[in-house]
Amino acid sequence: MKHIAIIPGDGIGVEVTREAVKVLSRVQQVYGFSLQMTHFDWGAEKYLREGVTLPEGALEMLSEYDAIFAGAFGDPRVPDMKHAADILLGLRFGLDLYINLRPVKLLHEGLTPLKGRSRKDIDFVVFRENTEGMYVNSGGFFKKGTPDEIAIQEELNTRKGVERIIVAAFEYAVKNGRKRVTMVDKSNVLRYGHDLWQRTFAEVAKRYPAIEANTQYVDATAMWMVLKPEQFDVIVTNNMFGDIITDLGAALQGGLGMAASGNIHPGRVSLFEPVHGSAPKYAGKNVSNPMGAILTAAMMLEYIGYGEAAKAIEQAVVEALAQGSTTRDIGGRCSTSEVGDAICALLK
Ligand code: IPM
Ligand code: MN
Repeated sequence: MKHIAIIPGDGIGVEVTREAVKVLSRVQQVYGFSLQMTHFDWGAEKYLREGVTLPEGALEMLSEYDAIFAGAFGDPRVPDMKHAADILLGLRFGLDLYINLRPVKLLHEGLTPLKGRSRKDIDFVVFRENTEGMYVNSGGFFKKGTPDEIAIQEELNTRKGVERIIVAAFEYAVKNGRKRVTMVDKSNVLRYGHDLWQRTFAEVAKRYPAIEANTQYVDATAMWMVLKPEQFDVIVTNNMFGDIITDLGAALQGGLGMAASGNIHPGRVSLFEPVHGSAPKYAGKNVSNPMGAILTAAMMLEYIGYGEAAKAIEQAVVEALAQGSTTRDIGGRCSTSEVGDAICALLK
């Protein structure tokens, strides 16, 4: 029995989480294991009602679980997104989930906007550093609100933080039969922080002689992801660049509705959430694509030791795509819940 914390969050997070839970319930029957799923109502509603974002003691409480699944956070009634930052970034930082693992994998040829590309061309994973970089919110204002205002926003890179994400990328390559690790930085301009990335990468790469190692500037990566995506196997990069290139990666595989992600600290409770946001415009309409959330649930299962079930879910998604059981964002006519039902029916 594994214990899963479910935090649907806001907007379409609620609907896509419902389908992910449906698929998890189905797959545990088919594969004969048991998940105890406990729901938490953290999100905008609770924040507006009680002023609570991440409740007191939440991190200790969640540490007792095997994994956490989250939908999405964001609500127009909270314009500064305070609750979203508190909850999502609070969990990433508070649980020290230093790997943001985001696969970029095309599951149906028709989904990519790239001309003439097939499934084998778009199949790589991004290891995004998830606990430092520009996300530490270090900096300050001087003379705020005056014509002489100065705003400083720092990027924090620690030797330990940089090394552990690079090591994680190489370890993944070894374990998953990947041939190449590409480090993405901007060391031609960011001469201190990304110099550290360059030196650390070169050092770690030496420990993995069987894996090809190369580096790219992030602007070039943006271009190559479109022109020659087949060159990528494993990308490792900092928090901000990882944020940006994984939205581009999502587009390559059919849009944000298709993209899965895990916030991971190996050996510890980890958090799985689709890449997309709460899309308030579509909330409650039963039109959002639940595939990203369902693929995220599969990633979670793989992480807690149910690799076979995880593969079966991905295969069911591939089949659902092939038979056209899809939502409108990717050209189908199904509702959110119909896509969830179709994927469950394909899990035998
Ligand atoms: C993501 C999101 C978050 C991020 C936001 C909501 C803080 O864009 O998970 O990619 O920037 O990490
Ligand atoms: Mn993002």
